[in-house]
Amino acid sequence: MVSRVIPVEPFDLVLFGATGDLARRKILPGLFHRYEVGQVPEDARIIGSARTDMSPDDFKAEVRAAIEEFTPDTPSRVAVLDRFLGCLDYVSVDAMSDAGWAALNDRLRPDVVRAFYLSVGPSLFAGIAGQLEKHGMATPDARIVVEKPFGRNLETARDLNVSLRKFFQEHQIYRIDHYLGKETVQNLMALRFANSLFEPLWNATHIDHVQITVAESLGIEGREAYYDHSGAMRDMVQNHLVQLLCLTAMEPPSKFTPNAVRDEKVKVIEALDPVAPTDIARGQYRADEGEDGYLDHVGDPQSRTESFIAMKVRIANWRWAGVPFYLRTGKRLRARVSEIMVQFRDPPHTIFPNVEPVHGNKLIIRLQPDEGITLRTTIKDPGPGGFRLAEVPLDMSFAEALGADSRPQDAYERLVMDVIRGDQTLFMRGDEVEAAWAWADPIIEGWERTRDKPFPYDQGSSGPEEALMLMHRDGRRWRQIGG
Ligand code: BG6
Repeated sequence: MVSRVIPVEPFDLVLFGATGDLARRKILPGLFHRYEVGQVPEDARIIGSARTDMSPDDFKAEVRAAIEEFTPDTPSRVAVLDRFLGCLDYVSVDAMSDAGWAALNDRLRPDVVRAFYLSVGPSLFAGIAGQLEKHGMATPDARIVVEKPFGRNLETARDLNVSLRKFFQEHQIYRIDHYLGKETVQNLMALRFANSLFEPLWNATHIDHVQITVAESLGIEGREAYYDHSGAMRDMVQNHLVQLLCLTAMEPPSKFTPNAVRDEKVKVIEALDPVAPTDIARGQYRADEGEDGYLDHVGDPQSRTESFIAMKVRIANWRWAGVPFYLRTGKRLRARVSEIMVQFRDPPHTIFPNVEPVHGNKLIIRLQPDEGITLRTTIKDPGPGGFRLAEVPLDMSFAEALGADSRPQDAYERLVMDVIRGDQTLFMRGDEVEAAWAWADPIIEGWERTRDKPFPYDQGSSGPEEALMLMHRDGRRWRQIGG
């Protein structure tokens, strides 16, 4: 299978926070890769911008180092890298004053796509948007890209929306949730809506429950202050896990257009029931022998922030009545695994009376690592020994099935190109973000009111016992993390 690279139009992309971690690790390497494959045109311009005073040459040297560190060493890289650096420029600006903005405006061309990527903390969004407007750069076709965290509750998310919408219209605002850029996440839509096999079964009549797991083996290294102020609920559930739930649960949109898709996602979020405290297990990784725990990492022995959360969520609509969605995410777990598991119901009647049931029909969508899809089916265990049933996989790894060409693009590569193309399908709309906070806020406020403390769990485990109990109580089991 050969992938097609369709070049995007020439553009000026201003990258605020160009010397920050995300820009160095993801955005600039992503742009470089799209340049290397010929998608970014030769006359594109990427203008780094930050408060730091540095020359364009110094900036180029930094970008060279970042790309050398964070992109694979391809045969063409050295030659292409020099050309790519030719597209780069740097202007120092200060979001809090007028310094540098006129110079930035002078660099922009009137007749190409114009995008401003705010890879900066949300406290700077309003200031930068205001300066862009004041200096005549917020033209009607310009795009503005913002990163999470998009607020820390409904009120702050609304304030951010209001301050961006003073200068940009909704169709110009691109709110990134990088999970939506992951290849398999989009494959979920293809799987559901480009096949006739699954959709007739995709409802409460045939599905017993759904599990969504985003487990990480890493901790909170280098982001302790941010993380302790957020926790797993704000950092992962309100955005990434809710997005995965939406794509799993939404009705088929009438077409694959940004608003049709996002309308359906909003309906799912609005149908989420409030979650009872008994349906949630929060955890915090503890110190192990010779290994500091969460409290040591954040330097606060009293911190009540969760580094793990498992919860049972219900969607109050016709399709999903009575079908629990179990969500789970955490740091320092036994493996890095993100997957969605759809457990189908057992057959309504068994003709094999003395045979152990295996609850065999599951569809597993693996987001990472080893992107792919597995459908588990029940067969007769071969050989003698009586009639026994066994669960076996029909397995499809994208890398094996599609070959080298299937290297999944990094989420940021795709998302930045979508900004230039003007396609908002994989970006969160303002009302969607607000709806997700409206659901998450009462849960978080409940913990704050009751001064609820997370349960400790071992590093390298699957989370606290209480998360297992959440499932056992319902007569179900989590899929093992990492196999
Ligand atoms: C980020 C969170 O949005 O997603 C991080 O802030 C988390 O805490 C990361 O580690 C996970 O992303 P990925 O793509 O590595 O699964």
